[in-house]
Amino acid sequence: MAATIAGATPAVDFQDIRLEEKVGHGSYGVVYKATWRNQLVAVKEFGASAEQKAIETEVKQLSRVKHVNIIALYGLSSYQQSTYLIMEYAEGGSLHNFLHGKVQPAYSLAHAMSWALQCAEGVAYLHAMSPKPLIHRDLKPLNLLLTNKGRHLKICDFGTVADKSSLMTNNRGSAAWMAPEVFEGSKYTEKCDIFSWAIVLWEVLSRKQPFKEIDNTYSIMWKIHKGERPPLLHNCPKRIEDLMTACWKTTPEERPSMTYVVKVMNEIIKDYS
Ligand code: ADE
Repeated sequence: MAATIAGATPAVDFQDIRLEEKVGHGSYGVVYKATWRNQLVAVKEFGASAEQKAIETEVKQLSRVKHVNIIALYGLSSYQQSTYLIMEYAEGGSLHNFLHGKVQPAYSLAHAMSWALQCAEGVAYLHAMSPKPLIHRDLKPLNLLLTNKGRHLKICDFGTVADKSSLMTNNRGSAAWMAPEVFEGSKYTEKCDIFSWAIVLWEVLSRKQPFKEIDNTYSIMWKIHKGERPPLLHNCPKRIEDLMTACWKTTPEERPSMTYVVKVMNEIIKDYS
């Protein structure tokens, strides 16, 4: 099986991987910290029951991408009934944990803007892939990992990436970041990532979890469907607020492209550094 889906991804001998502790789980599968060839790596395990399609999606898409703001895929391994993806390790954990974890390190507005920009750069790269843009579809701080003492941000979890509009079936827990057209089952494009990015921007600026007070996925979807968005922030510079609200517009065509977001973010950041 491995050989047929690996494509450009090297096959790795499972005996060469030393699994250490569990560090998380993606849309499918458990993630371990591990050592491989004297380096720390992240290993994502898909058990025998994992949907074959999810594994294939993640490997096929991730093997094509190479960008500083996207977690790299090093290799693919299989052992007994399981498949393992060997990936770049991000020692800083998730942005979600940084923002909302037990220990709360301070960070500046410039730092928050840098995370949002790095996320936008990774996504802009995905959207520029040929022949078709890749859509991440599940951008949220749990899927944004930090390295280099929290300075660098890398997008992970490509189990939901698609190069076409298809129904999202494994989106539990992501409603607060999801564009309305995605959960409405309408045709959608890469513009759904722009919407999610705007919610991530709101989250790093506010250090709050969007719609946290609502514990029901469907109630969150209903609010977003009705046009409700996270509350505007006090003291938020107007240019940032304008960009954020343009990106979470209900009509996908009215949201700017990620290339435009990167350009504007660069202009704004210049004034904060
Ligand atoms: N959790 C999920 N993916 C990870 C990675 N690549 N590095 C560290 N922790 C992770």
